Amino acid sequence: MAQRDLTFSVARNENPKSEEERNAILADPGFGKNFTDHMVDICWSEHGGWHRPRVQPYGPIALDPAAAVLHYAQEIFEGLKAYRHADGSVWSFRPEANAARMQRSAKRLALPELPTEYFIDSLKQLLAVDADWVPSAPETSLYLRPFMFAKEAFLGVRAAKKVNYYVIASPAGAYFTGGVAPVSIWLSTDYARAGKGGTGAAKTGGNYASSLLAQQEAAENGCAQVLFLDSAEGKYVEELGGMNVVLVYKDGTLVTPKSDSILEGITRDSILDLARDRGHKVEERRVSIDEWREGVASGDIVEMFACGTAAVVTPISQIKGAEFTIGSADAEAGPLTMSLREELTDIQYGRREDTRGWMVRL
Ligand code: PLP
Ligand code: COI
Repeated sequence: MAQRDLTFSVARNENPKSEEERNAILADPGFGKNFTDHMVDICWSEHGGWHRPRVQPYGPIALDPAAAVLHYAQEIFEGLKAYRHADGSVWSFRPEANAARMQRSAKRLALPELPTEYFIDSLKQLLAVDADWVPSAPETSLYLRPFMFAKEAFLGVRAAKKVNYYVIASPAGAYFTGGVAPVSIWLSTDYARAGKGGTGAAKTGGNYASSLLAQQEAAENGCAQVLFLDSAEGKYVEELGGMNVVLVYKDGTLVTPKSDSILEGITRDSILDLARDRGHKVEERRVSIDEWREGVASGDIVEMFACGTAAVVTPISQIKGAEFTIGSADAEAGPLTMSLREELTDIQYGRREDTRGWMVRL
């Protein structure tokens, strides 16, 4: 179907939060608790394609109780951030990579693919009305959450013929309550997140639904996140509930799991690129939990960290399992972890030149 020129209509929120309220939120944003005054909404139908693009007041979405998403979870989402630079301008980080991943997720969930230019335009349109919501304190940003789901009211099991795409935004500070301090991770042995041929590589709600019980177990064991192993053998490292993992070996090599059932993180890809440019060897390959355990015990693995849009780069102090522990709770953040984190955030916040063309102005 020919792509249309998507011209957005804008309906301003008549009751936006007051400047005082907004400033109070921006002073202590936490993560995912408060939302800006507006949202984007674009419709899709089998015959009409993408149409009726709108910026409208943030608020509830009316759904028919038979809407397919409520029954069969035909849903995908993305996560990226808007950063305020010192001159006041607002930038996003590699948004075309999020757009491309959303297209891959859409394909897997039999949803329509939103063209990259529409995706980026939807962010720009939202920021055009909600730019005041981008905080400026160190380590803060505006988290952008594009998502798409099956809205058609129909109980037969098939791909929906009516879908909506939305973008909401939420001021964000550190994802973990301890900030950049090293976190403990729970090793799940009873549950898997995704399996061969499943939806593990897509950013779809079902993957997160299946992680929640394991995440609860993690919290009960004093851990901030859960680590999943492969579902077939329970032997190879996959990823955390909401972020990727990277190990640093003593010769400076960075190793990260390769698997068809993990989400390919844009943060991880960027960090590995920065490391390669510094001359580090980077390996994307299968990593067993035994290799991880033995590597830390022998001193071959010297640093470990989690990475993702929400988590940025967060050092891992220990992996706690039912039968063994890797590392220790009082382990400090690794120097390479912290310097890669600094280089990445310097680019994102405009403190360092963006030589790779990663930043896109919103
Ligand atoms: N893995 C999972 C399961 C995630 O939810 C995320 C976060 O989006 C990531 C990895 C990291 O992806 P990214 O760096 O693109 O945010
Ligand atoms: C993100 O980092 O964007 C995610 O979706 C992960 C989640 C833990 C918020």
